Amino acid sequence: MPEPQAAAVVILLGPPGAGKGTQARMLEADFGLVQLSTGDLLRAAVAAGSEAGRAAKAVMAAGQLVSDEIVLAILRERMAAPDTARGVILDGFPRTDAQARALDGLLAEQGQKVTAVVSLEVDDAAMVGRISGRHTCAACGEGYHDQFKLPAQAGVCDKCGGTTFTRRADDNADTVLARLQAYHAQTAPLIAYYEGRGVLHRIDAMGAIADIRSTLAALAGGVLA
Ligand code: AP5
Repeated sequence: MPEPQAAAVVILLGPPGAGKGTQARMLEADFGLVQLSTGDLLRAAVAAGSEAGRAAKAVMAAGQLVSDEIVLAILRERMAAPDTARGVILDGFPRTDAQARALDGLLAEQGQKVTAVVSLEVDDAAMVGRISGRHTCAACGEGYHDQFKLPAQAGVCDKCGGTTFTRRADDNADTVLARLQAYHAQTAPLIAYYEGRGVLHRIDAMGAIADIRSTLAALAGGVLA
């Protein structure tokens, strides 16, 4: 297997609906990094019906975390791809202490380390509304929201002109609550882990998407310079 090649490694931490995917795609466009979403990789595995996908499907539908073993195998394979050479934005990874330590080990093998970790700080109460309004262009994956981010022309993707939109199977109120619980129990402790390492940045992510993008771009410009 080829070895991982990532240069800059930026982690976006935050509960479901915090805006990790939305902001990761913008960082990708602004800084030439590659968004690497373990949620997207797992959904692709489910759609492909691979062994990992079959194991992950029910776990994801219940809003629980997929096993570290499956996630790490998928992540490692993706980070070995040549397009990650300029750096990656990790969206939805790591999510457990074991994943964070495995990432450290993976990067250390390459003489690399985590560049920056951004905690997107939000109110849980608003997240169900954000998640239940989310939809995605089926052709290019661009994300939208029924209220907060509509395409300029109704029903037509701004990015690719696609006219078909999808909603995720786990974007329902019950599953979102389970996902929030999993975040607080298993992922939120990583904020202290990275704070102790001196790489943590906290951003208020309750404002407008464009304002958060500006804040994040300024921060990224500083740490990636
Ligand atoms: P994953 O796909 O990672 O989902 P998540 O963490 O629950 O996060 P979301 O994608 O729901 O939210 P987001 O923060 O990206 O928000 P978005 O930008 O879309 O994981 C899904 C499942 O896969 C997990 O439950 C687990 O089972 C499994 N999994 C994945 N990674 C794993 C791992 N490492 N280990 C184990 N299991 C793993 O925004 C949401 C909506 O709000 C959008 O419509 C957007 O337009 C809108 N919006 C965004 N920002 C704003 C804003 N500032 N104001 C108003 N609206 C906004």
